[in-house]
Amino acid sequence: MIQMLRGVSVPTVVNVVAFGRCFQFTRAVFWGLIFCVASSLSVVTALGQQQAQQPQQKEHEQQQHAELPAGPGKDTLIRACSRCHSPSNVIANGRNREGWEELITKMVGLGAVGTDEDFTEILDYLVKNFPQQSNVKINVNKATAKELETGLVLSTKESEGIVTYREKNGDFKSLDDLKKVPGLDAQKIDLKKNRLTF
Ligand code: HEC
Repeated sequence: MIQMLRGVSVPTVVNVVAFGRCFQFTRAVFWGLIFCVASSLSVVTALGQQQAQQPQQKEHEQQQHAELPAGPGKDTLIRACSRCHSPSNVIANGRNREGWEELITKMVGLGAVGTDEDFTEILDYLVKNFPQQSNVKINVNKATAKELETGLVLSTKESEGIVTYREKNGDFKSLDDLKKVPGLDAQKIDLKKNRLTF
């Protein structure tokens, strides 16, 4: 009886073990598949979210560089000139067309990437918005709104804001005083600080 049982049970036990292994294997494959599906789904979702965020990011970028005047070429400048430093460093010194051409050529030499059209757009934008300025310093306590506007390439609103604030609160004594003017971009003022006197 025992012998018989053994005779039957040994292969049965092997079968059961084999079945168990097979089942485990199947289970592993099953979970593997679930994992694959789940992770590819999450990649798809992440991609979808990224795409949805792109316009937002672009808007955000534009807001970040509010110190750069709006106009054709601004987007291209931000795109091509933000990789190594802030694109706002173009504010520090105005140049004539030749000077800007030279600078762009230098940046291309350093590794700036763009098409010829991109660089022409950037050049036109820079020539228009950051022309060569004299090195004459501007006295922020004496200059008229118009002088502030053209001399420092500020918006009309900003330069009028400076004059209004000055009339109400008295002379500016320092750069920090000047930065208190509502609506004036502190970063823009910092970049021009060498051209200001008090
Ligand atoms: C691959 C990196 C890189 C990119 C992209 C780049 N720059 Fe520069 N830029 C530099 C480096 C490095 C310096 C400092 C070099 C120096 O002062 O000699 C610099 C300095 C400057 C300066 C101040 C120094 C000067 O010579 O007057 C300005 C302005 C400037 N870049 C504008 C731009 C503009 C405009 C673009 C887009 C067309 C641009 N950069 C793209 C690397 C880059």
